[in-house]
Order: sequence, then C-alpha cells, then structure tokens
Amino acid sequence: MGVKVWTHVSDRTLKGSARAPMTQAQKLVKTDVTQAPELTVKTAAEYAELLTKLQDMPTLPVIAMKVNELISDPNATSMDIAMILKQDQVLTAKILRLVNSSYYAVPGGVSDVQKALAFLGFNTVAQLVLSLSVFSMFSKFGDESLTMKDFWMHALAVAVCSEEIAKRWKIVKPEEAFTCGLLHDIGKLVIYEIDRERLTFILKKSREGKKGFIEVERENDLLNHAYIGEMMATRWGLPQVVRQAIRYHHTDVAKMASLLASAKKVIQVVRLANMVVVKNANAEGGATTYGKSGDFSKGTVLAEMLEDLGLKIDDLTTIEKDLAKAMEKAGAFLNANS
Ligand SMILES: [Fe+2]
Ligand SMILES: [Fe+2]
Repeated sequence: MGVKVWTHVSDRTLKGSARAPMTQAQKLVKTDVTQAPELTVKTAAEYAELLTKLQDMPTLPVIAMKVNELISDPNATSMDIAMILKQDQVLTAKILRLVNSSYYAVPGGVSDVQKALAFLGFNTVAQLVLSLSVFSMFSKFGDESLTMKDFWMHALAVAVCSEEIAKRWKIVKPEEAFTCGLLHDIGKLVIYEIDRERLTFILKKSREGKKGFIEVERENDLLNHAYIGEMMATRWGLPQVVRQAIRYHHTDVAKMASLLASAKKVIQVVRLANMVVVKNANAEGGATTYGKSGDFSKGTVLAEMLEDLGLKIDDLTTIEKDLAKAMEKAGAFLNANS
C-alpha cells in the first residue's frame, strides 16, 4: 500500500484547472507514491531543503564521469578505459595495486592497465574505477566511535558478499553486484556531509536502542539514507542498476511491478548481503573485519531474502563461509580508499 505524499504538479495535470489560475496550496495534491513508501507528508519541506543541499555537493571527478559513460556504451572498448586511466596516475596505481592483490590473484601479476584489462575484463576494471572514484569524494564519516574505516569495511564486506552470492548461484553479473554492494549505503556519507547533527542523532539512537540505522530514520520520519543516496547517485548520473540498488536495499522488491526483473535480482542480492554482514559483524564475538555502518541491530536474515533468490535456509551457511573466505583475500581493499 502506498503512502500519501504531497507532490508539486503542473497546472495541466489538475482536472478542470486549465484556465483558472491556481493558488500555491491548490498546486499541492495528494498522490499515491507506491515507490516511495518511506516518504511522509511531514518530509515535504525537508525534501525541498535536501534538494538544495545536494545541489551544493561536488560533482563526480571527470574520470569517473567518463568511465560511467563507457559502462553504458555498448561500443566502448578496453582501449577507451586505458586511455582515460592514463590521465590519472594515482588512480591507475590504486587499480594496479588491487589487481595485483590476492583478491584477484592474477598469475604472475600485471604491471600496466592494458594487461589488467586483458585479465579482468573491461567491466571489472570499469566498475572498480567508478567505485573508487565515488568513495574518493568522501574522507570522513561517523562520530567518536564510528570511523570512515569502519564504514569502508562494511561497504567492502557487503560488496564481497554480494559478489560471492552472484558468482556461486549465477544470479547477476558479479562485478555489478560488487559495485552495488560497495555503494549501497552511500546515502549515510551524504548525510554526514550535509547534516552532521542528524547523523550524530541517528547513530546515538540506533546505538542506544540496538536498532538499525533505517529503523531510527523511520521512527523519526526522516528521509532515509537509501532515498538520499539514490538522489545523490542520480545527480551524479550513476548507472540505473546502481541507483536502484542504493534506493531499495532495505525494501522487499519482489512484488514491485515497476522494477525490471534483472534490477530486482541485484537489489535482492545486496539486501541479503547487507543483512548477512550486519548479522555476522554484530554477533557476540563477531567478525571485526566486517566493519560498522551505524546499524546496531542483530541483523535478521528473513526467509524471504533467501527465497526471493531461489535459496534455502541452509544456503545461509554457505554464504557466510564464502564471505569469510573472500574477506581474507580482500585486505588490499582496506587501503584502497586512501
Ligand atoms: Fe543501509
Ligand atoms: Fe549497509
């Protein structure tokens, strides 16, 4: 069921109003917005304020924008990406460091971008460049007990888990699942940038109540980080699948007719991966390398999260094992964001 939200519409969309001039109040009509279930009437003013603040956020680095275009261009080749990377030595060094890490395990290692592309393929390298560029926009996050490193480790664990699920069950492209996993909580970084007090408030409430970040946002009628993240991703022109994974990573999308089946699968993979990571990070004596992102709940993996992907409850153990194994090799990523 959709939630009512005030929406601004043009004169033409209102019945019988073609000639009569409308007052500002008349221009606000109630619309059923099934795709934005977290929006409430109370947030209309906040939404306008947020839009203004997002306008002030920097645009993506030029390199990221170019790579972004290449990802959606069917005629783009590895040569194109090699040409772009030539313009940024720092980024190139980071990419080579990752490609040569045990995570990708290229036999004998590679010393230049062309060879990296030949081994890993256009998509993996392009997705890596895009993800690293997006993260390079942010350097700080959190409060006194939650750092950018914690956040980065959570993002990485979700990326790795998403990739492993996608690979093992051949659900979606693993490199796409990785990127979507890495960027799923980007809205929290945006909140830190545009409203530090709000972030501190949410972190305090979720820590005190052992609740999820999203739960506190919902309880307080705040536009949530998934929504804010998607707004930022849209402004940056990130690929649609990434935008949707950010927007719906806390939503059960199984019955949402407005989403493409392929996009749904990526979203479901990231939603599941996020919960698996939170569950394992927050458990007694949990995995310290899985980071923290302000979700202090127990991390409950719902049956639907597995079933929607055609998985069974027993598969959860396999996912957790795959994640633990892959994270052992993902150490090189921990310094990739510096
Ligand atoms: Fe989230
Ligand atoms: Fe998360």
